[in-house]
Amino acid sequence: MPILYDKEHAIFNIQTPDTSYIIGIYDGKLPLHIHYGKRIEQTYDMFDMLDKPAGKNYSFDPVCMDFSEKIARNVHLFELPTYGDGDYRMPAFHAQYADGSTVSKLYYTGHKIYDGKPALSDMPSSYVEDDSEAQTLELYLEDELSGLQAVLCYTAYGDRNVIVRSNRYVNAGKATVTLYNVDSGCIDFDHNDFDFVHFYGAWARERMMERTPLLHGLQAIDSARGSSSHYQNPFVCLASHDAGEDMGEVYGMNLVYSGNFHAGAYVDSFHKTRFFTGINPFDFQWKLDCGESFQTPECVMVYSDRGFGKMSRTYHEFIRERICRGKFRDQERPILINNWEATYFDFNEDRIVAIAKKAAEMGVELMVLDDGWFGHRNDDHTSLGDWFVDKNKLPDGLASLAKKINALGMKFGLWFEPEMISTESELYGKHPDWCLHVQGRSSSEGRNQLILDLSRTEVCDYIIDTLSEILGNANIEYIKWDMNRNMSEIGSAYWSPDRQREVAHRYMMGLYRILGTIKERFPHVLMEGCSGGGGRFDLGMFCFFDQFWTSDDTDAVERQYIQTGTSYGYPAMVMGAHVSACPNHQTGRTTDIKTRGYVALAGQFGYELDLSTLTEEELAEVKKQIALCKELAPVFHKGDMYRIKSPFEGNLTVWEFVSKDKKTAVVEIFVIKGMANPSYECIRLKGLDSAAVYVDRNTGKKYSGEVLMHMGIKREGWKDYSHEILILEKA
Ligand code: DGJ
Repeated sequence: MPILYDKEHAIFNIQTPDTSYIIGIYDGKLPLHIHYGKRIEQTYDMFDMLDKPAGKNYSFDPVCMDFSEKIARNVHLFELPTYGDGDYRMPAFHAQYADGSTVSKLYYTGHKIYDGKPALSDMPSSYVEDDSEAQTLELYLEDELSGLQAVLCYTAYGDRNVIVRSNRYVNAGKATVTLYNVDSGCIDFDHNDFDFVHFYGAWARERMMERTPLLHGLQAIDSARGSSSHYQNPFVCLASHDAGEDMGEVYGMNLVYSGNFHAGAYVDSFHKTRFFTGINPFDFQWKLDCGESFQTPECVMVYSDRGFGKMSRTYHEFIRERICRGKFRDQERPILINNWEATYFDFNEDRIVAIAKKAAEMGVELMVLDDGWFGHRNDDHTSLGDWFVDKNKLPDGLASLAKKINALGMKFGLWFEPEMISTESELYGKHPDWCLHVQGRSSSEGRNQLILDLSRTEVCDYIIDTLSEILGNANIEYIKWDMNRNMSEIGSAYWSPDRQREVAHRYMMGLYRILGTIKERFPHVLMEGCSGGGGRFDLGMFCFFDQFWTSDDTDAVERQYIQTGTSYGYPAMVMGAHVSACPNHQTGRTTDIKTRGYVALAGQFGYELDLSTLTEEELAEVKKQIALCKELAPVFHKGDMYRIKSPFEGNLTVWEFVSKDKKTAVVEIFVIKGMANPSYECIRLKGLDSAAVYVDRNTGKKYSGEVLMHMGIKREGWKDYSHEILILEKA
């Protein structure tokens, strides 16, 4: 059983196959954090090992008098750090009570351990398929003076090195409590021998890895954009200084949330580290009335004792199998073609059918019609909200277009941006107060559009009804759900002044309700998320979307950085990746069609160009890519990924994908910059069966697994942006 309770010593040992997360209830009251890391089998009176106040400065680190032994709150490790009684580090919980005070004393009142994992109310979360897969511990705490209760919830999966955690606050008191900070995950460590690793970016250059040693004080990332954003990703790590792909300790935390978040590490003067993540407390406030409860998002924690590689593979499998859900979870997705970079807004039915026809000849399976099919949208100034077909472009409507596409043997998919509204739209004429705005202030526009106020039930219902009607009246088997701006002037005409700081979070709750309803009503529709590329690439989204457009940057070289950075936290199965035209529309760079194809194959594969513009030679390559995708997609999507060489560290990108049965390995090698007189590069593979013999499909040469892993393959003499794909099969 993954969760052990040592009653004699009041110790909980939450175990996964390789890890232990240990909590102790000190003095029958205070949940202390004791250990998170390598698995520990035996627990005993572990409080002996904790830091004692003796020797510390009593004047400036006040001791709490609530316990039989005095303890200085500032030096201990806590499960739920609160504010007000001497712990001066960042609290994971901060609230204000009816008497105006902001001091909390949340003490243990009981616990429950049970099989399975409950779904969270209002928030998306990971799940179990059978209660025997996991166990959950709920720790119950109460602030006696106010009656506020906290439920700290931990789930350990029996056969995965994953622990998920979230908190619920229940106002069982007699007056409203105002919540200010409600972190989802918080781990206290008794040392600071860590690097902080995060993935920053911007539009078209998402998830660039950055690693810096921890300093004393606060290192944090956040988003206040109303979305997890291109700029920072909610996935963060702490890594031992020696951690590499296969060695060292790495702790990952990822939040199942798509809105404003913060994550970081606070190191105090006693070299202790507090690692945290949750809803961004900046500009957040929540009035919790009597009898109400507040559910924090969930945080997915992974500890790896063998570097970033093991951590990533643990996340990949977990996301594929216990975050993603629905009909498509275990299926290979159709190869798609999207008209955006081929036509932008300038298309009509004939053009779309022509693009589809050529693609169908090549073996492409799904035609996606992107932006511009509705209202009178010929550029990005108008019509968002007016989800009726533009008869000038599509005179016979969507159902007829879908039929024509289906007649080519392809599925039909459609782009939407349901959360948005153009001021030049019929919807805005009817409901000017349906957008996020602050009464009396001007509203800033992003891409010439405003954002619908999804904190309002009727606005969410409008979106659900509109989409349901469109999806119900044409054979649409895929939707691309886009979102192209971040929030500003966050305010709602619906909510009272004292609830305005709830609006950004209520928006997310509304969005999750819409997505859940659409997914439930249309389970046969494959859903791809998008936010100007990968601007909302997070676990909250993957509870609904089967895949996500990784970046608007389709350049094959830039994509090596973007897809490598993304791979630290997310599997290839969810990364939309397309071959586009050259010179590339974002960077102006020209790369070989093979390079573009091999980079895209390591994601959810597709095309984003008019194939009729290609030469015969290039079309022959497209056919090969499609055949390779059909054959190898299961290895890319369900196999284990190894980052053999990272573009963040050198001139080569090498990704290796190994099928779970180790029968097939696909190695993709890319050179970023050609070099005169280069030396050999030695590429040592990983994850193979060392006793087996593998045959290189291109050359027929045989290699043993151990030679491939311990001696490696040698390569030399590449040019700019060159590439190679190596398919190794067990003899
Ligand atoms: C941004 C997306 O990332 C693009 O792929 C495309 O769908 C445009 N929006 C359409 O406006």
